[in-house]
Amino acid sequence: MKKIVEIAHDLLVEYVPNCHISVDFTMGRGNDTLFLAQHSSYVYAFDIQQECIEETKQKLNMHHLHNVKLICASHVDAFTYIKEKIDAGIFNFGYLPQSDQHITTMLETSKVAVEEALKRLVKKGMLILVLYPGHEEGEKESEYFAKWSKQLASKDYNVMQIKMWNKEKAPYILAIQKIREEEKNED
Ligand SMILES: C[S@@+](CC[C@H](N)C(=O)[O-])C[C@H]1O[C@@H](n2cnc3c(N)ncnc32)[C@H](O)[C@@H]1O
Repeated sequence: MKKIVEIAHDLLVEYVPNCHISVDFTMGRGNDTLFLAQHSSYVYAFDIQQECIEETKQKLNMHHLHNVKLICASHVDAFTYIKEKIDAGIFNFGYLPQSDQHITTMLETSKVAVEEALKRLVKKGMLILVLYPGHEEGEKESEYFAKWSKQLASKDYNVMQIKMWNKEKAPYILAIQKIREEEKNED
């Protein structure tokens, strides 16, 4: 079977075929950034670790891709850098593999960043959350986002979960597609 991140990429190719602006909210070693750069007009990519910026820069240069803004900042501040609406975004949560596991995404900031990203998503746009319930902070994120996404209004969003049914702690995907703009409260 395909790896979970390959399935995440397949979903974006299928559901956001004409991707103008995309965001990698957790750049890491740049695999998702590279994919987004190959499938979008312009990409914003964030990580709090400078080594991720350097590694991703090299990866993009090797592929002669120059349509990415690499930003060393938390995704909680993403929309101080991004002024336009976005077509697609990936949150590949957790820590950098083969690196310091204490530098990991944290529920308190992850939830603010995801909610803001959802507001900025265009109609027919998609957010992909890759969740890792196999470690402590990842389990908190997994529990929170599973509940939170289940109560999103079905007239406004499609939410799909993709997981290995017989591997409880394996990483899994929540894909959120905006199908209608939420009505604004006028009071
Ligand atoms: C699982 S890795 C991402 C993998 C990556 N997308 C790739 O293709 O290689 C998670 C990354 O999130 C980063 N991270 C943790 N907290 C963050 C935050 N608040 N804002 C942005 N990135 C963060 C970590 O530094 C780590 O590089």
